[in-house]
Amino acid sequence: YREQIPIDRGLDNSIAMMSEGYLYISNRCKRYGRDMFETRLLGGQKAICMTGEEAAKVFYDESKFMREGAAPKRVRQTLFGEKAIQTMDGVSHKHRKELFMSLMTEKRLQDIVKIFKEEWRVAIQQWERQEEITLYSEVTKLLTISACKWSGIPLSQMDVNQRANQLEALFDAAGAFGPRHWKGRQARNALESWLMSVIEDVRNGNFDVPEETALYQIAWYHDTDGKTMDPQVAAVELLNILRPIVAIAVYISFVALALLEYPKVKGSLKTEEDFELFVQEVRRFYPFFPFAVARVRDDFLWKGHDFKKGNLVLLDIYGTNHHSEIWENPEQFKPERFRNRQKNPFDFIPQGGGNYTQGHRCPGEGLTIEIMKASLELLTNQMDYQVPPQNLSYSMVRMPSLPKSRIVLQNVKKRM
Ligand code: HEM
Repeated sequence: YREQIPIDRGLDNSIAMMSEGYLYISNRCKRYGRDMFETRLLGGQKAICMTGEEAAKVFYDESKFMREGAAPKRVRQTLFGEKAIQTMDGVSHKHRKELFMSLMTEKRLQDIVKIFKEEWRVAIQQWERQEEITLYSEVTKLLTISACKWSGIPLSQMDVNQRANQLEALFDAAGAFGPRHWKGRQARNALESWLMSVIEDVRNGNFDVPEETALYQIAWYHDTDGKTMDPQVAAVELLNILRPIVAIAVYISFVALALLEYPKVKGSLKTEEDFELFVQEVRRFYPFFPFAVARVRDDFLWKGHDFKKGNLVLLDIYGTNHHSEIWENPEQFKPERFRNRQKNPFDFIPQGGGNYTQGHRCPGEGLTIEIMKASLELLTNQMDYQVPPQNLSYSMVRMPSLPKSRIVLQNVKKRM
C-alpha cells in the first residue's frame, strides 16, 4: 500500500527546527500520531523525519541509505571536516572504519582511562588551591591533554588552553549560525594545519611515535587505492579522534548534573555495575547528538511511504531514546531500567545504531562509556566539593546542550 504521510507544511522549516531543537521531530510525531513525517529543511529540500526502533532499523540498512552528500556544508566545515569517514559509503567506508575500530582494543581503552584518571588526580591538586572551578572547562582541558597523549600527538603545556578551545569550538559550532559557526570554522582551519604538519613530521621520520597510537596508524594507513591518505584527510581523521574525545566533557557535565539532580540515585551507587547503569541512563536521558542524516540510495517503499532516490532522511536520536514504546516513563531518570536489559542495536542510539564495522555507528562508544564511568567514580569517590547556587538548567534548543552554569564547584578537596 501507499499513503501520504503527514506533512509539516512550509517552504523551509529550518526555523521551526532551530526553535524547537531536540524536540522538533518528536513534537510532530506525537502531534500526528505517526513515527514519520515529511518536511522541508536546509534550503527547502524535501526531508523525511523518522523516530523509533523500526525507523532506526531501516535507517541503518545500507542498501537503502547513503551518506554521500547528506551532511550539510556548514557541518562539514566545522564538525566533520571534508572527506571524513562520516561522508563515505560502501567499500571505502568499511575500509576506513577498520582503521577507527583497530584503535579501540581493550588494551587501548584501558590506556586512555589510565591517562585520564592520572590527569584528573593531578588537576585535583590545583583545584584545591582555587576557590572555585568550572567543571566543564576543566574537563575539556583534561580531555585535550589525554586525547593528545593517547593519540601520540605532542602538546606542550603552553598550548593546552588554545587547543582545548579550538577542539571545543568544532563541536560547539555544529548547530550554530553566526559567530559560533565562524569560530568553529577558524578552529578547524587552525587545527587541520597543525595536524597536517604533525602527520608530515611522522612521515618524514622527524620523530618516533609508537605504532599503537592513532597518529601512527592514521599517518601510515593505506586507503583502498593503496596509498596513504592525503595529509589534509589524515588531519581530518585525526580530528575525528581528538574532537569527540574532548566532547565527552559535555556528557561528564551531565554526569555531574545527574548526581546533583538525583541524590537518591547517587546514594545507591555501589557496584561497578551501578556505575555502568548510571552512565547509560545519562546517555539516554540528556540531549546531545540530536539526529543522524542520510540520503535515500534508490527508490523504495516502506510503511506506505515512497522514499525517493536522493531524499534527505533524519533519524531522531534524542526522540528514539525517549520513545514511549521503548521506554517506560521516558522522562524519569532511572538507571535501574538498564539492569538486565536485552541489548538491541536499534532502540538505544545516543551514538548511532546498527553495526560498528558495517555501518556508521560511533566507533568511540566504548571509549565514551569508559571515560564517563571513570569520571563518575572520581566525582563520587575521590573528591569532595560544594555546589554554590547556579543556573543548572539546560536548553532543549541550543545544540549541543549543556548545563548553563557549566557546573561550578567550590572548595574541591581530594578525599583521603
Ligand atoms: C559517529 C555520537 C564520542 C568517533 C558518531 C555518530 C554519533 C556519535 C551520533 C553518528 C552515527 C551515524 O551517523 O549514524 C557521539 C557522542 C559522543 C561520541 C554523543 C560522546 C562524546 C566519540 C568518540 C570517538 C568518536 C570518543 C572517537 C574517539 C566517531 C567517528 C564517527 C562517529 C569517527 C563516524 C563513524 C562513521 O561514519 O562510520 N558519533 N560520539 N565518537 N563517532 Fe562518535
